[in-house]
Amino acid sequence: MSASRVLLGVVTSVALLGACGGENGEGTGPIAPALDQELTALLEAEGVKPVEKPAAQDPGLVELGQLLFFEKELSGRRNIACSTCHHPMLGSADGQSQSRGQGATGLGPQRVHGDKSLFLARNTLSIWNRGVKGWDTMFWDGRLGGNPTDGYISPAGDATPQDFSNALAAFFIIPITPDEEMRGFPGELDVKGNANEMADLTNDDFAKIWPLVVARAMAVPFYKDALLAAFPGKTEADINVVHLAEATAAFMTDAFTALDTPFDRYLAGNHGALSDAQKRGALLFYGRANCGSCHSGALQTDFGFHNIAAPQVGTGKGDEAPLDYGRGRITLKEEDRFKFRTPSLRNIELEGPWMHNGAYANLEDTVRHHLDPEAYLKAYDDKQVEPELWGTYQSSEETRKLLLGSLDPLLKVEGARLTDAEVSDLMAFLSALTDPATLNQLYLIPDSLPSGLSLDD
Ligand code: HEC
Ligand code: HEC
Repeated sequence: MSASRVLLGVVTSVALLGACGGENGEGTGPIAPALDQELTALLEAEGVKPVEKPAAQDPGLVELGQLLFFEKELSGRRNIACSTCHHPMLGSADGQSQSRGQGATGLGPQRVHGDKSLFLARNTLSIWNRGVKGWDTMFWDGRLGGNPTDGYISPAGDATPQDFSNALAAFFIIPITPDEEMRGFPGELDVKGNANEMADLTNDDFAKIWPLVVARAMAVPFYKDALLAAFPGKTEADINVVHLAEATAAFMTDAFTALDTPFDRYLAGNHGALSDAQKRGALLFYGRANCGSCHSGALQTDFGFHNIAAPQVGTGKGDEAPLDYGRGRITLKEEDRFKFRTPSLRNIELEGPWMHNGAYANLEDTVRHHLDPEAYLKAYDDKQVEPELWGTYQSSEETRKLLLGSLDPLLKVEGARLTDAEVSDLMAFLSALTDPATLNQLYLIPDSLPSGLSLDD
């Protein structure tokens, strides 16, 4: 059994415990009022306010977007969809340390490589709450982002369309483009034995690839009708990648907004929603343990970039492989090397393995790494990543020095180190960030697809 399969079992049980955390009567003990006074004052001082839920999405658009999200017809070989890597049963991610792209088969921890398939360079990000206003920075390294006022930037450069409603919609143009992700490699037939008309383009032929993806959708009568109905006034010739993107984003916003957690209820004034342990954990998180200086606000992210010296394990990325310079690859500045976007911690216990490369298979290790990166780098065991990546951990003294040399100074605990009981309180707080309504999302999987393609992986 793979490490990640074991992990998922553990994660689910932790999640269920977490979801019940507020109802175990703990919050009604005699010390609760003092705790609440202290916590509400801290949350106010730190500017932690209830998150504004995204506006209700157009139901027709959501229904169409749901099918497109699961639709393999949009990939070169008709063998992979958004849902393959962002699956409702896997915390809107894929349960692997690094995701297996084009040509792999199976879902989540059962997914195995085909002849040519490769690991994508990073751990699949979850897509919880990405439709919330202000979520303008996407990817572990922030290489796509924007909003309707400031415009959008993306790896497509000048070809980036500017008429998206938000960065979540803009994101759609990226996964459909690279050969290793959804487009496919030259010379390989699709699952039905047809040639792949997108395969001979290159990864930066953005403007040529997108119309071919749109044509795939428009060739299915159901999608053609649904797209024309969803965008009144548009003709067949007007429908482009932005329309597919808007529909998919409407679905993702509708399905993966997870803002009814015990913590949200507490922020809304229900002081019984958190257990005492969760309240003590929140006090540490936004207080002495300093987590909130990067994981700030009610979504636990400043949308900024920091180096916390996560173990350099896995494929690495680009010319620096087996290292991954993260944000430094985008800005080309030395001081940005090894920085990654602060992850939101919403539904965090549902989406392991953790870190930009899935380095940790255990959430508590992930948290403890922050408390003593040097010790965790020295003791790191790469048997917790996908078996093909065993032996890839960059354990040299030199790499360790490189990582620790530019460690973010915000990574500090005020005063004495955290005790085991305090770490356990922090973990309890993280479980208060899980929305119970998202624990079972099987209902999101369509019964069938308009293309007739399989929903198995
Ligand atoms: C082969 C697996 C795979 C497929 C298929 C895939 N993704 Fe992803 N997705 C990832 C990985 C890996 C990342 C993180 C990449 C990075 O940061 O470098 C990611 C990141 C994202 C993010 C960014 C979230 C954030 O917080 O920045 C969104 C949104 C997203 N994917 C949506 C989609 C959509 C929509 C599709 C289908 C059009 C899709 N993905 C297809 C693996 C996949
Ligand atoms: C200096 C800023 C900073 C501080 C302080 C900080 N973190 Fe992080 N945290 C990050 C960054 C950046 C990452 C992602 C690093 C990577 O993947 O290389 C991260 C990753 C995580 C993850 C894994 C998220 C995921 O999606 O994989 C968890 C859990 C986490 N932090 C919890 C905490 C807790 C609890 C504290 C306080 C003890 C804390 N962090 C303090 C910046 C910070």
